Amino acid sequence: MDKKTIRDIDVSGKRVLIRVDFNVPLDEKSGNITDDSRIKAAVPTIDYLLDHDAKLVLCSHMGRPKGHIVPGLSLKMVAERLARILRQPVDFAPDCIGPEVKDMVDRMKNADVLVLENLRFHPEEEKNDPAFARALAELGEIYVDDAFGTAHRSHASIVGVAKYLPSVAGLLLEKEINSLGKVLLDPVRPFGLLLGGAKVSDKVALIENILPRVDFIIIGGGMAATFLKAKGHEVGLSLLDPNIEIASYLIEKAEKHNVKIYLPEDLVVAGIGSDANWETVSVKNIAADKRIMDIGALTISRFTRILERCKTVFWNGPMGIYEISQFAEGTRAMARIISSINATTIIGGGSTAEIVTAMNLNGRMTFVSTGGGAALKFLSGETLAGVEVLLDKN
Ligand code: 3PG
Repeated sequence: MDKKTIRDIDVSGKRVLIRVDFNVPLDEKSGNITDDSRIKAAVPTIDYLLDHDAKLVLCSHMGRPKGHIVPGLSLKMVAERLARILRQPVDFAPDCIGPEVKDMVDRMKNADVLVLENLRFHPEEEKNDPAFARALAELGEIYVDDAFGTAHRSHASIVGVAKYLPSVAGLLLEKEINSLGKVLLDPVRPFGLLLGGAKVSDKVALIENILPRVDFIIIGGGMAATFLKAKGHEVGLSLLDPNIEIASYLIEKAEKHNVKIYLPEDLVVAGIGSDANWETVSVKNIAADKRIMDIGALTISRFTRILERCKTVFWNGPMGIYEISQFAEGTRAMARIISSINATTIIGGGSTAEIVTAMNLNGRMTFVSTGGGAALKFLSGETLAGVEVLLDKN
């Protein structure tokens, strides 16, 4: 990474404003944190700064409250979880700017940790409002961006503050860029890209950017329906990307690069509202009143054989409606096989990372990214706004 990190700057005794991505998944009913990986992922940066006697002011968003105070999206419980993880007291500020917060920060001692309330309770955060960015910047003497998951957003706490403070990367941001950059620039071949999830449009730039370096593209999940339709198959009531031509375009483009796109051969299908009535059918026999819910057993075997040939794998997106247990087998099977092959295995963030974590397979992957949208943007070759604004190494 060609940007300065916390190792390149004197942080001792300084107030350090750290943008983290503590946007953790919450249980719909209880509101409790269901996966604290993103909090744990910030610990190396936090530990480094604590070891160097800095005063740590952590800020983050949670969910999409659209500029309003939504109590269920408060970061208070995240601060409590962080205190448990760090085994030290963590203070919580009831807002992210304003005189009360400023006062709390002024009273901090070296190695104190303070978590600010959800940045997105202020509409100015997402608008990258300069006055809001300045008010945030006043809380620190140094700015550290460790929020890889949000590095593609041009928000006040990500790009705005960098105008006012010396700005460097945290250790997680550095690790993400270096790990994903290796996949992009220098993969050990054969390199397989396993894609799922709903939308093709989200992945077009990624596929195009990676085509010169990839050997196999394997497609399951909701997006497979659009590819199957483009190949002339009937897909019943499965949701399609409005732009079916994009799939034909990608198939053609892949052929030009001598890259084969592998699609499902059999699928688990069900009627709308009759999830219990599911069956596995050949891709040629999807009834008009059914929709695709998962990949079938034949497809799992075929995808497994391709993945076993790879020396590098990047996986983003579930193979079906994995939230419903009878349609989770394809996704779970892919997680198991990727965790067991002798290859560099990189997992895109978001739901793919949550699945791998829930299956306890994190430790068996080379790298599990904390960024969903950010990882896709980065692998699409786009510059991340949050990285761009940091100080250059030389
Ligand atoms: C994520 O979960 O991908 C990041 O926290 C970014 O969230 P956002 O898509 O709401 O900006």
